[in-house]
Amino acid sequence: MTDPTTALHFPPDFVWGVSTSAFQIEGAADVDGKGPSIWDSFCRQPGAIADASDGRVACEHYQRWADDLDLIQSLGVNAYRFSVSWPRVQATGQGAWNEAGLAFYDRLVDGMLARGLQPHLTLNHWDLPQALQDRGGWANRETVDHFVEYALGIQRRLGDRLASLCTHNEPWVVAVLGHQNGVFAPGLKDEALALQVSHHLLLSHGRALKALRAAGAKEKLGIVLNLAPTHPATPSAADKARAVLEDGRLLRWYMDPLCQGRYPVDLWLDLGGKAPKMHDGDLAEIRQPLDFLGVNYYSRSVQSADKPWDPKAAGKEVSEMGWEVYPEGLTELLLRLHRDYPQVPSLWVTENGGAFPDPWIDGRVQDEARTRYLQRHIAAVHAAKLEGVPVDAYMVWSLLDNFEWSSGYAKRFGIVHVDYETQQRTPKDSARWYRQFLAAQSKGA
Ligand code: FCB
Repeated sequence: MTDPTTALHFPPDFVWGVSTSAFQIEGAADVDGKGPSIWDSFCRQPGAIADASDGRVACEHYQRWADDLDLIQSLGVNAYRFSVSWPRVQATGQGAWNEAGLAFYDRLVDGMLARGLQPHLTLNHWDLPQALQDRGGWANRETVDHFVEYALGIQRRLGDRLASLCTHNEPWVVAVLGHQNGVFAPGLKDEALALQVSHHLLLSHGRALKALRAAGAKEKLGIVLNLAPTHPATPSAADKARAVLEDGRLLRWYMDPLCQGRYPVDLWLDLGGKAPKMHDGDLAEIRQPLDFLGVNYYSRSVQSADKPWDPKAAGKEVSEMGWEVYPEGLTELLLRLHRDYPQVPSLWVTENGGAFPDPWIDGRVQDEARTRYLQRHIAAVHAAKLEGVPVDAYMVWSLLDNFEWSSGYAKRFGIVHVDYETQQRTPKDSARWYRQFLAAQSKGA
């Protein structure tokens, strides 16, 4: 198959990266003063994780970080997106700082700079300190101010060397999967609570940005959302109405307050008693200028009024997660974000990738489906750029096979294979392709 990226040129300052998150790779769950996170607890709930695994060892990145940075550098990317484990740097989420934890991220950031990699840091990739959950977690308004303190502590220690800082990764996932469907930590099932959580996440984002700017932060500040275009399964009025509603819940519920300082009126009116409790001034606080919006894109969302739409049954190509491969949705999404939210000066694809079969053939992981997926999505980013959308970064999810939340270790998203028995890393064919592609870009080929 021909490679759709062959003739494409991106600007020399385009940010190319790989993404990971702390809980999914670090392991070292209780060493050097790290406190437990809600994911450490959630993994112990019977049936919560498909293969009954946990994050105690994961990819041993806490020990192997230097080799992992060498690996990242060898790909030829210029950026690395990682997250800080809050309970590693502040065991209970408030009060005393854990020097050993801070020192780890200090070394990691210096290690990136030494290898020519821009550090892109995420504060909350879901591993909230369990001690804060014991006091209500994100449903408790006090967590907002603990988060601001955490943000300021990280800024004091690392801020001078960061390219960017992101408050939250995918608040929709924390709210809906964590507090409404109960399939992610903390495993609660309460829609009103989930809405309150989404409000507190947004408020903590805005308050943290304000505090970071007041503290003189120079790195780019933003947030990362999981977004998708939402389509009706059929042209029926019922499916169309359902698609509008779900688009509201996924995209407008976050983008409108962030950029316009209000929740979408149609959704708010529907909520009745479930609407989140707000204080005067909350919406103004949430709407802080974003230096960038991170977009995590995997697939589109297709909505049907009567039963969930099944892409496989509809004859679509799907990944091992059962997600439809739909690259044109990324172009559509970027165009729409730029049109509806022109306040955002720079859009970054902060995650994109897939779980695909990893056949070992002749001593190599020949993951053609993943390579093809990356090629088609990078071409989709280029198409949006040609239409004038300011997309300035693309980062692959993920560097390594890792702990894929409730799927455990069974689903592999890495462009580098991890043998969990030996911790050996082996770049897959997709990593080799990415390296070649980036080498050609840097030569202006
Ligand atoms: C995203 C998460 C990331 C990873 C990918 C597959 O929702 O941000 O940690 O699990 O999905």
